Amino acid sequence: MSHDSRSDDDDRLTRRHYVAGAGTLATVGIAGCSDSGGDGSDGSDGSDGSDGSDGSDGSDGSDGSDGSDGGDSASELEIIHWWTAGGEQDAYQALLDGFREEHPDVEITDNPAPGGAGSAIDTVVQNRVIDGNPPSTFQIWPGQALTPYTDEGLLEDIGDSVWDEEMRGAYLDGVIDLAQPAGDLVAVPINIHRLNNLFFNVSVLDDADVDATDIDDPQGLLGVLETLDAETDVTPLVHQTQSPWSSLQLWESIFIGQQGVDDYQTVIGGDVSSLEDEVRSALDLLASYLEYIPEDAGSISWDQGNDQLIEGNAAFLHQGDWAAGQYSSADGFEFGSDWDMVPFPGTTGVYQSVIDSFVFPTNNPSPEATEQFLNYAGSVDAQERFNPIKGSIPPRTDVPMDEFGDFLSRQFEDFQNSNTQPPAIAHGTAVAPAIQSALEETFANFNENRDVDAAYQGIVDAF
Ligand code: BGC
Repeated sequence: MSHDSRSDDDDRLTRRHYVAGAGTLATVGIAGCSDSGGDGSDGSDGSDGSDGSDGSDGSDGSDGSDGSDGGDSASELEIIHWWTAGGEQDAYQALLDGFREEHPDVEITDNPAPGGAGSAIDTVVQNRVIDGNPPSTFQIWPGQALTPYTDEGLLEDIGDSVWDEEMRGAYLDGVIDLAQPAGDLVAVPINIHRLNNLFFNVSVLDDADVDATDIDDPQGLLGVLETLDAETDVTPLVHQTQSPWSSLQLWESIFIGQQGVDDYQTVIGGDVSSLEDEVRSALDLLASYLEYIPEDAGSISWDQGNDQLIEGNAAFLHQGDWAAGQYSSADGFEFGSDWDMVPFPGTTGVYQSVIDSFVFPTNNPSPEATEQFLNYAGSVDAQERFNPIKGSIPPRTDVPMDEFGDFLSRQFEDFQNSNTQPPAIAHGTAVAPAIQSALEETFANFNENRDVDAAYQGIVDAF
C-alpha cells in the first residue's frame, strides 16, 4: 500500500514545480506535514561543547540557529557517506568547503564507507545506530530506505528545526514527500540523479559507425553490442558485476525500456507474477548484454569500469549520471566531443530518479552542528556547489543553473520535460531495504549463473 502512495508522490516530482519557481511554491503542497507531532526541540539542547569559547570569526551567516541556546562553541560533526569514487569526492569536498565557510567553528570528522550505491554503508551505520552511538549524520536515500529507521524512531523529526518555510517553499513537492516516508520530515535531500542513462565514448562509436541516437529500444542495443563485439576491439558495454546493484539497475532500465513505467510501478508495488513474461524478457535481455561486458567485470568497481570508457577501451556504460561527475574530473575528456549520453533506449521521457539525503539520528552526538549542517545541505549555496560536480540537478527549484555546464543543463531540461520520474529499486527509494537486499542477492546469483528461471523466482520471492 505504501508503494501506491509512493508512486503518487513520485509523479508529483514534475516539471511544473521547477517552472513555477520558488515564490509560487511557498504555499503549495506540503500543508499537513508540519502538524504531525513535531516537537522539534528534541535532541537540540545544545549540550555539546559548552565551554563558551567564542571562537567566533564573525561569519555566522547561519540562518538556522533556532534550536541553539547561544553557545557558539567548537563542535565536531561526524559524517558517514560513500562518496569516494570518480568525481564524488570532489563534490563532497565542495559541499564541506561551503559549510566550513559558514561554520568555521565546526570540526568535521569525515568517515567514508566506500562502495558504490552504498554497498558498504548499511552495516556500518546500522551497527552504530543500534549501539546508540550514531554519527552526527549520514548519507541515505530518501523514500523507502528511511523506513527501518523511522519504524524504530531512530531519526529526529526535523520538520520544525530544519525545514523552515523558506526551505519548504523552495523544494520540489515530490522530493519533500520522499523526505517524510512516515509522516515526519526526517531527511534533507541534496540532489537528483538520473539513472536511465546510456553513456558512450564518442570516438569509439564514430569509428564503428554507430549512432547511439538510432537505437530505439533495449533489443536494438543488443544488436549494436553484437556489432561492436564483432567489428572492434573495444568492450561493448563496460559493466561491473563485483557488486550486484549495477545489474539490478540495468534490469530496471531494460524493463522500463521494454514495458514502460506503469508496468514498472506494478512490479515495485509487489505484483510481479501478473507480469511474468515481461519480467523474464528483461532478464533474458540482461543475460544477453552480459555477454558483452569486460572480462574483469567481477573485480572492478563502477568507476574503474568507467575509466575503461574514458580511456577509449569501451563503448557504452549504463549508469546514473554520477558517471558524468567522473568525466568532468577526468583531464581533457569533454562532453560532446569525447563523451555523450542518450536516455537508455526506450526510456526517453522518463527521468528515473536517484536522490541522496542527510538525516538527524536520535542520540545525536552534536545536535547543534548537525542542525547547522542539515540547514546548509538544504540551502541554495550547498546545492549550487555540490550538484554541478556530482553530476546531478538540485531538488530546490531556485538554484541558479548557470554553472551546471552543457550536460547537466540538458539533463535539467529533460527533467523538466519528463513525463514521469519513477524511483529506483537499486538505489533505495522504491522498495524497502529488505526487498532491495533480497533482489541484490538474486542479481548477485544472476551475475554468476544467468539463470532466468531462478532470477524470476528470486524476484517474486523478494516481494
Ligand atoms: C548514490 C550516488 C552515488 C552512486 C554511486 C548512488 O546510490 O545516490 O550519489 O554516486 O550511488 O556510488
